[in-house]
Amino acid sequence: MRTLTLWLMVGSAVMLAQHFQEGDGKKNPAIGNIAAIAAGEKSFNEGCAVCHGQGGMGGRGPNLANGRVMWHTLTEESTYKRIKDGVPSGGMPPTPGSEEKLWQLTAYVVALRAPASEAPQTGDAELGKTIFWGKGGCNECHSVLGKGGKIGPDLSDAGGSRSTAVIRMAIEDPGANGSKGFEKARVLLKNGQALEGVLKNRNNYSLQLLDARGELHLLLMTAVKEMTVSKNSAMPANYKSRLSAKEIDALVAYLAKQTARPMVAGN
Ligand code: HEC
Ligand code: HEC
Repeated sequence: MRTLTLWLMVGSAVMLAQHFQEGDGKKNPAIGNIAAIAAGEKSFNEGCAVCHGQGGMGGRGPNLANGRVMWHTLTEESTYKRIKDGVPSGGMPPTPGSEEKLWQLTAYVVALRAPASEAPQTGDAELGKTIFWGKGGCNECHSVLGKGGKIGPDLSDAGGSRSTAVIRMAIEDPGANGSKGFEKARVLLKNGQALEGVLKNRNNYSLQLLDARGELHLLLMTAVKEMTVSKNSAMPANYKSRLSAKEIDALVAYLAKQTARPMVAGN
Protein backbone atom coordinates (compact mmCIF):
# COMPACT_ATOMS: atom_id res chain seq x y z
CA MET A 1 0.00 0.00 0.00
CA ARG A 2 2.73 2.38 1.00
CA THR A 3 4.71 1.58 -2.11
CA LEU A 4 1.68 2.21 -4.27
CA THR A 5 1.14 5.68 -2.71
CA LEU A 6 4.80 6.44 -3.21
CA TRP A 7 4.66 5.41 -6.85
CA LEU A 8 1.55 7.49 -7.36
CA MET A 9 3.33 10.49 -5.87
CA VAL A 10 6.40 9.98 -8.01
CA GLY A 11 4.14 9.54 -11.00
CA SER A 12 2.30 12.77 -10.46
CA ALA A 13 5.54 14.62 -9.74
CA VAL A 14 6.86 13.49 -13.10
CA MET A 15 3.60 14.53 -14.74
CA LEU A 16 3.79 17.90 -13.01
CA ALA A 17 7.34 18.39 -14.16
CA GLN A 18 6.34 17.53 -17.71
CA HIS A 19 3.38 19.84 -17.53
CA PHE A 20 5.61 22.63 -16.27
CA GLN A 21 8.08 22.06 -19.08
CA GLU A 22 5.44 22.05 -21.76
CA GLY A 23 3.21 24.67 -20.14
CA ASP A 24 4.52 28.16 -20.94
CA GLY A 25 7.80 26.81 -22.28
CA LYS A 26 9.61 28.82 -19.59
CA LYS A 27 12.38 26.28 -19.33
CA ASN A 28 15.27 28.57 -18.77
CA PRO A 29 15.22 31.61 -16.50
CA ALA A 30 16.93 33.69 -19.20
CA ILE A 31 13.83 33.56 -21.41
CA GLY A 32 11.85 36.79 -21.04
CA ASN A 33 14.34 38.22 -18.54
CA ILE A 34 15.27 41.78 -19.51
CA ALA A 35 18.84 41.62 -18.13
CA ALA A 36 19.55 38.31 -19.87
CA ILE A 37 18.06 39.60 -23.13
CA ALA A 38 20.23 42.73 -22.92
CA ALA A 39 23.33 40.58 -22.33
CA GLY A 40 22.26 38.38 -25.25
CA GLU A 41 21.85 41.42 -27.47
CA LYS A 42 25.40 42.49 -26.67
CA SER A 43 26.81 39.07 -27.63
CA PHE A 44 24.59 39.06 -30.70
CA ASN A 45 25.97 42.38 -31.92
CA GLU A 46 29.50 41.10 -31.40
CA GLY A 47 29.19 37.68 -33.02
CA CYS A 48 25.97 37.27 -34.97
CA ALA A 49 24.96 40.63 -36.46
CA VAL A 50 27.69 40.28 -39.06
CA CYS A 51 25.52 37.59 -40.72
CA HIS A 52 22.04 38.13 -39.30
CA GLY A 53 22.05 41.92 -39.47
CA GLN A 54 21.49 44.57 -36.84
CA GLY A 55 18.55 43.59 -34.70
CA GLY A 56 18.42 40.23 -36.47
CA MET A 57 16.81 41.83 -39.51
CA GLY A 58 18.69 39.60 -41.90
CA GLY A 59 21.73 39.70 -44.14
CA ARG A 60 23.87 36.75 -45.17
CA GLY A 61 21.96 34.77 -42.57
CA PRO A 62 18.16 34.70 -42.39
CA ASN A 63 16.01 37.35 -40.75
CA LEU A 64 15.48 36.16 -37.18
CA ALA A 65 13.07 38.90 -36.22
CA ASN A 66 9.99 38.61 -38.39
CA GLY A 67 9.24 35.04 -37.43
CA ARG A 68 7.77 34.37 -40.86
CA VAL A 69 10.67 33.76 -43.23
CA MET A 70 11.55 30.28 -42.10
CA TRP A 71 9.11 27.52 -42.80
CA HIS A 72 9.39 26.09 -39.31
CA THR A 73 8.95 27.68 -35.92
CA LEU A 74 11.74 26.86 -33.55
CA THR A 75 11.02 26.13 -29.92
CA GLU A 76 13.28 27.68 -27.29
CA GLU A 77 15.14 24.40 -26.88
CA SER A 78 15.76 23.97 -30.60
CA THR A 79 16.76 27.61 -30.98
CA TYR A 80 19.35 26.99 -28.24
CA LYS A 81 20.63 23.89 -30.06
CA ARG A 82 20.70 25.71 -33.40
CA ILE A 83 22.82 28.47 -31.88
CA LYS A 84 25.13 26.06 -29.99
CA ASP A 85 25.70 23.55 -32.80
CA GLY A 86 25.13 25.84 -35.77
CA VAL A 87 24.00 24.50 -39.15
CA PRO A 88 27.39 23.81 -40.72
CA SER A 89 25.85 22.61 -43.99
CA GLY A 90 23.85 25.85 -44.20
CA GLY A 91 26.68 28.24 -43.36
CA MET A 92 25.78 28.79 -39.70
CA PRO A 93 28.84 28.17 -37.50
CA PRO A 94 28.61 26.64 -34.01
CA THR A 95 28.75 29.18 -31.19
CA PRO A 96 31.33 28.75 -28.44
CA GLY A 97 30.67 29.93 -24.90
CA SER A 98 29.15 29.05 -21.55
CA GLU A 99 25.67 27.63 -21.23
CA GLU A 100 24.68 30.92 -19.60
CA LYS A 101 25.90 32.96 -22.57
CA LEU A 102 24.15 30.64 -25.02
CA TRP A 103 20.86 30.94 -23.13
CA GLN A 104 21.22 34.72 -23.10
CA LEU A 105 21.60 34.62 -26.88
CA THR A 106 18.60 32.30 -27.09
CA ALA A 107 16.57 34.66 -24.92
CA TYR A 108 17.45 37.52 -27.24
CA VAL A 109 16.52 35.59 -30.40
CA VAL A 110 13.26 34.40 -28.82
CA ALA A 111 12.43 38.00 -27.82
CA LEU A 112 13.16 39.16 -31.37
CA ARG A 113 10.55 36.81 -32.77
CA ALA A 114 7.91 37.11 -30.13
CA PRO A 115 4.95 39.36 -30.80
CA ALA A 116 5.89 42.74 -29.32
CA SER A 117 3.07 42.39 -26.79
CA GLU A 118 4.84 39.39 -25.27
CA ALA A 119 8.37 40.84 -25.32
CA PRO A 120 9.63 43.10 -22.57
CA GLN A 121 9.58 46.79 -23.53
CA THR A 122 11.86 49.47 -22.14
CA GLY A 123 9.97 52.52 -23.45
CA ASP A 124 7.27 54.52 -21.72
CA ALA A 125 3.98 53.51 -23.35
CA GLU A 126 2.07 56.47 -21.91
CA LEU A 127 4.55 58.90 -23.46
CA GLY A 128 4.29 56.92 -26.71
CA LYS A 129 0.53 57.34 -26.72
CA THR A 130 0.92 61.14 -26.39
CA ILE A 131 3.38 61.23 -29.29
CA PHE A 132 1.28 58.95 -31.48
CA TRP A 133 -1.80 61.15 -31.14
CA GLY A 134 0.17 64.41 -30.89
CA LYS A 135 3.53 65.63 -32.09
CA GLY A 136 4.30 62.44 -34.06
CA GLY A 137 1.15 62.88 -36.14
CA CYS A 138 0.95 59.10 -36.55
CA ASN A 139 -2.83 59.27 -36.18
CA GLU A 140 -3.08 61.30 -39.38
CA CYS A 141 -2.43 58.09 -41.31
CA HIS A 142 -2.93 55.22 -38.87
CA SER A 143 -5.91 54.22 -36.85
CA VAL A 144 -6.15 52.33 -33.60
CA LEU A 145 -9.54 50.88 -32.64
CA GLY A 146 -11.40 52.82 -35.30
CA LYS A 147 -9.91 56.26 -34.54
CA GLY A 148 -7.36 57.95 -36.77
CA GLY A 149 -6.40 58.05 -40.45
CA LYS A 150 -6.74 55.42 -43.14
CA ILE A 151 -3.76 56.04 -45.43
CA GLY A 152 -1.54 53.61 -43.53
CA PRO A 153 -2.22 50.15 -42.10
CA ASP A 154 -4.49 49.85 -39.10
CA LEU A 155 -2.35 49.41 -35.97
CA SER A 156 -5.00 48.08 -33.57
CA ASP A 157 -3.15 44.76 -33.41
CA ALA A 158 0.39 46.08 -33.98
CA GLY A 159 1.72 44.45 -30.81
CA GLY A 160 -0.11 41.17 -31.26
CA SER A 161 0.96 40.55 -34.82
CA ARG A 162 4.41 42.10 -35.18
CA SER A 163 7.67 41.68 -33.34
CA THR A 164 9.31 44.62 -31.59
CA ALA A 165 12.03 44.72 -34.23
CA VAL A 166 9.51 44.92 -37.07
CA ILE A 167 7.65 47.81 -35.39
CA ARG A 168 10.89 49.65 -34.68
CA MET A 169 12.15 49.13 -38.22
CA ALA A 170 8.85 50.39 -39.65
CA ILE A 171 9.30 53.64 -37.73
CA GLU A 172 13.05 54.14 -38.09
CA ASP A 173 13.62 52.89 -41.60
CA PRO A 174 10.27 52.60 -43.41
CA GLY A 175 11.58 51.82 -46.88
CA ALA A 176 13.79 48.97 -45.66
CA ASN A 177 11.44 46.12 -46.38
CA GLY A 178 9.92 47.66 -49.48
CA SER A 179 6.47 49.13 -49.64
CA LYS A 180 3.61 46.68 -49.61
CA GLY A 181 1.10 48.54 -51.72
CA PHE A 182 1.34 51.95 -50.08
CA GLU A 183 3.04 53.97 -52.81
CA LYS A 184 2.39 57.65 -52.79
CA ALA A 185 0.86 59.11 -55.95
CA ARG A 186 0.09 62.58 -57.20
CA VAL A 187 -2.51 62.88 -59.92
CA LEU A 188 -3.42 65.87 -62.03
CA LEU A 189 -6.77 65.53 -63.77
CA LYS A 190 -7.66 67.03 -67.13
CA ASN A 191 -10.25 69.21 -65.40
CA GLY A 192 -7.45 70.83 -63.39
CA GLN A 193 -8.15 69.00 -60.11
CA ALA A 194 -5.07 67.74 -58.26
CA LEU A 195 -5.22 64.74 -55.95
CA GLU A 196 -2.69 63.16 -53.66
CA GLY A 197 -2.83 59.90 -51.81
CA VAL A 198 -1.96 56.25 -51.74
CA LEU A 199 -2.38 54.23 -54.88
CA LYS A 200 -4.64 51.27 -54.20
CA ASN A 201 -5.47 49.55 -57.44
CA ARG A 202 -4.33 50.30 -60.89
CA ASN A 203 -4.85 48.84 -64.32
CA ASN A 204 -4.70 50.21 -67.85
CA TYR A 205 -8.08 51.88 -67.59
CA SER A 206 -8.49 53.08 -64.04
CA LEU A 207 -6.90 53.63 -60.69
CA GLN A 208 -7.98 54.07 -57.11
CA LEU A 209 -6.49 56.73 -54.92
CA LEU A 210 -7.02 56.88 -51.18
CA ASP A 211 -6.60 60.45 -49.95
CA ALA A 212 -5.57 61.69 -46.51
CA ARG A 213 -9.19 62.01 -45.40
CA GLY A 214 -9.80 58.35 -46.13
CA GLU A 215 -11.82 59.04 -49.25
CA LEU A 216 -11.34 56.59 -52.09
CA HIS A 217 -11.32 58.14 -55.58
CA LEU A 218 -11.98 55.92 -58.56
CA LEU A 219 -10.38 57.63 -61.55
CA LEU A 220 -10.54 56.67 -65.19
CA MET A 221 -7.21 56.91 -66.96
CA THR A 222 -8.91 58.94 -69.71
CA ALA A 223 -9.49 61.71 -67.15
CA VAL A 224 -5.88 61.75 -65.97
CA LYS A 225 -3.53 64.34 -67.40
CA GLU A 226 -0.45 63.58 -65.34
CA MET A 227 0.50 61.15 -62.66
CA THR A 228 3.64 60.71 -60.58
CA VAL A 229 4.04 57.61 -58.46
CA SER A 230 6.72 57.65 -55.82
CA LYS A 231 8.65 54.43 -55.26
CA ASN A 232 8.81 55.34 -51.61
CA SER A 233 6.29 54.36 -49.05
CA ALA A 234 3.85 57.02 -47.89
CA MET A 235 5.23 56.47 -44.38
CA PRO A 236 7.51 59.45 -43.62
CA ALA A 237 11.17 58.40 -43.52
CA ASN A 238 12.45 61.09 -41.17
CA TYR A 239 11.20 60.02 -37.75
CA LYS A 240 14.65 58.91 -36.68
CA SER A 241 15.87 62.49 -36.97
CA ARG A 242 12.62 64.15 -35.86
CA LEU A 243 12.17 62.14 -32.68
CA SER A 244 14.61 61.27 -29.90
CA ALA A 245 15.63 57.67 -29.17
CA LYS A 246 13.53 57.86 -26.01
CA GLU A 247 10.49 58.99 -27.99
CA ILE A 248 10.88 56.17 -30.50
CA ASP A 249 11.23 53.63 -27.66
CA ALA A 250 8.05 55.10 -26.22
CA LEU A 251 6.16 54.73 -29.52
CA VAL A 252 7.34 51.13 -29.85
CA ALA A 253 6.16 50.42 -26.29
CA TYR A 254 2.77 52.02 -27.01
CA LEU A 255 2.25 50.05 -30.21
CA ALA A 256 3.43 46.86 -28.48
CA LYS A 257 0.40 47.21 -26.19
CA GLN A 258 -2.06 47.25 -29.09
CA THR A 259 -3.46 43.75 -29.29
CA ALA A 260 -7.06 44.17 -30.35
CA ARG A 261 -8.16 40.81 -31.68
CA PRO A 262 -11.44 39.04 -31.83
CA MET A 263 -11.97 37.87 -28.26
CA VAL A 264 -11.63 34.17 -27.58
CA ALA A 265 -13.99 32.83 -24.94
CA GLY A 266 -12.28 32.50 -21.58
CA ASN A 267 -9.24 34.44 -22.67
C1 HEC B 1 28.77 33.17 -40.83
C2 HEC B 1 27.42 33.65 -40.77
C3 HEC B 1 26.62 33.39 -39.50
C4 HEC B 1 26.94 33.73 -38.21
C5 HEC B 1 28.22 34.37 -37.68
C6 HEC B 1 25.80 33.34 -37.41
N1 HEC B 1 24.83 32.78 -38.18
FE1 HEC B 1 23.05 32.06 -37.54
N2 HEC B 1 22.63 31.36 -39.42
C7 HEC B 1 23.40 31.61 -40.53
C8 HEC B 1 22.78 30.94 -41.67
C9 HEC B 1 23.30 30.96 -43.09
C10 HEC B 1 21.63 30.27 -41.17
C11 HEC B 1 20.65 29.39 -41.96
C12 HEC B 1 21.13 27.98 -41.86
C13 HEC B 1 20.19 27.00 -42.52
O1 HEC B 1 19.25 26.57 -41.85
O2 HEC B 1 20.40 26.71 -43.69
C14 HEC B 1 21.57 30.58 -39.75
C15 HEC B 1 20.57 30.11 -38.90
C16 HEC B 1 20.40 30.53 -37.60
C17 HEC B 1 19.27 30.20 -36.76
C18 HEC B 1 18.12 29.31 -37.15
C19 HEC B 1 17.07 30.11 -37.84
C20 HEC B 1 15.86 29.27 -38.15
O3 HEC B 1 14.75 29.81 -38.06
O4 HEC B 1 16.02 28.10 -38.50
C21 HEC B 1 19.45 30.84 -35.57
C22 HEC B 1 18.50 30.81 -34.37
C23 HEC B 1 20.69 31.56 -35.65
N3 HEC B 1 21.24 31.35 -36.89
C24 HEC B 1 21.21 32.34 -34.64
C25 HEC B 1 22.52 32.82 -34.66
C26 HEC B 1 23.17 33.42 -33.51
C27 HEC B 1 22.50 33.68 -32.16
C28 HEC B 1 24.45 33.73 -33.90
C29 HEC B 1 25.56 34.32 -33.07
C30 HEC B 1 25.97 33.58 -31.88
C31 HEC B 1 24.58 33.34 -35.30
N4 HEC B 1 23.40 32.79 -35.71
C32 HEC B 1 25.72 33.53 -36.03
C33 HEC B 1 24.57 32.33 -40.58
C34 HEC B 1 25.27 32.79 -39.47
C1 HEC C 1 1.76 60.27 -44.00
C2 HEC C 1 1.20 59.07 -43.49
C3 HEC C 1 1.87 58.35 -42.33
C4 HEC C 1 2.30 58.88 -41.13
C5 HEC C 1 2.21 60.33 -40.66
C6 HEC C 1 2.82 57.77 -40.36
N1 HEC C 1 2.73 56.61 -41.08
FE1 HEC C 1 3.28 54.76 -40.46
N2 HEC C 1 2.84 54.00 -42.28
C7 HEC C 1 2.27 54.71 -43.32
C8 HEC C 1 2.12 53.82 -44.45
C9 HEC C 1 1.55 54.18 -45.81
C10 HEC C 1 2.64 52.56 -44.05
C11 HEC C 1 2.76 51.30 -44.89
C12 HEC C 1 4.20 51.16 -45.26
C13 HEC C 1 4.41 50.43 -46.53
O1 HEC C 1 4.25 49.20 -46.55
O2 HEC C 1 4.75 51.09 -47.51
C14 HEC C 1 3.07 52.72 -42.67
C15 HEC C 1 3.59 51.70 -41.91
C16 HEC C 1 3.78 51.75 -40.54
C17 HEC C 1 4.06 50.63 -39.70
C18 HEC C 1 4.20 49.17 -40.17
C19 HEC C 1 2.84 48.59 -40.24
C20 HEC C 1 2.83 47.18 -40.75
O3 HEC C 1 1.85 46.80 -41.42
O4 HEC C 1 3.75 46.42 -40.45
C21 HEC C 1 4.18 51.10 -38.42
C22 HEC C 1 4.47 50.30 -37.17
C23 HEC C 1 3.98 52.52 -38.49
N3 HEC C 1 3.73 52.89 -39.79
C24 HEC C 1 4.02 53.36 -37.40
C25 HEC C 1 3.94 54.75 -37.48
C26 HEC C 1 4.19 55.65 -36.37
C27 HEC C 1 4.54 55.22 -34.96
C28 HEC C 1 4.03 56.92 -36.86
C29 HEC C 1 4.24 58.22 -36.11
C30 HEC C 1 5.54 58.41 -35.49
C31 HEC C 1 3.64 56.80 -38.25
N4 HEC C 1 3.62 55.48 -38.60
C32 HEC C 1 3.34 57.88 -39.08
C33 HEC C 1 1.89 56.02 -43.31
C34 HEC C 1 2.17 56.92 -42.29
